[in-house]
Amino acid sequence: MRKDKYDDQLAVLKQVYGDMYHEHGEGPNAVGWANDYTQRIRFEAITRGWKAIPSSILDVGCGLGLLAGILDSTWLSHIAYTYVGIDIVQEFIDSATKNYGNLGKFVCQDSHTHADLVGENAYDLVIGSGVTGMWQDPYQVLTDMWFMAKKWMTFNWCEDVSPLTVDRVLSFARQVGCNIWTLDHSYLPNDYTIHMFKPASVPSFWVEQKDKAKELAGV
Ligand SMILES: C[S@@+](CC[C@H](N)C(=O)[O-])C[C@H]1O[C@@H](n2cnc3c(N)ncnc32)[C@H](O)[C@@H]1O
Repeated sequence: MRKDKYDDQLAVLKQVYGDMYHEHGEGPNAVGWANDYTQRIRFEAITRGWKAIPSSILDVGCGLGLLAGILDSTWLSHIAYTYVGIDIVQEFIDSATKNYGNLGKFVCQDSHTHADLVGENAYDLVIGSGVTGMWQDPYQVLTDMWFMAKKWMTFNWCEDVSPLTVDRVLSFARQVGCNIWTLDHSYLPNDYTIHMFKPASVPSFWVEQKDKAKELAGV
């Protein structure tokens, strides 16, 4: 996507989410979720099915920072990892810093600028819950997320509001060279969560399965 087109969409999103914060204050409606349940059930899908342990996590479009608190309430609290949340709305970042600043760092920045600054493979895991939602063309955001992920990236989308479909996401995965992914459509109608793993971090069990299959097939 051309840079000026990306910037145009970014400006619209900043305005829309900023207005939502001023209308609803802290809470799920401020970041575009229908209620607390639909926000949290998406986080649940994001935090299950991991195949590796991340030592660094980037939360793209962190909104009010709730995911930082949720991650800290899981088994992750027993291991050392760093958390960084970025968002384009300063009010979200201020609120996230106030409520969850003890759990990580929150920065007001868009994903493209952040990718430029931190470079390739900067975080073990890159997460985006709802981040593609209002983008007419979400591929720049996804490409930057994939670029920054060292082991895997996880994101969700809602078919009601996003141009993304299962076919389009899997085609994107193929284009970026990802052939190991898991897709979860078990938690909400019209909503999907995908974990896309980087080939270099293919978990060893996968390689073993492949060897075993070859052995059984006699190839
Ligand atoms: C649907 S909200 C979800 C917020 C949070 N992840 C949650 O689930 O509570 C999407 C968030 O992504 C942010 N966002 C959208 N595009 C972004 C981008 N390119 N870089 C950083 N943040 C972005 C928006 O400002 C908004 O806060």
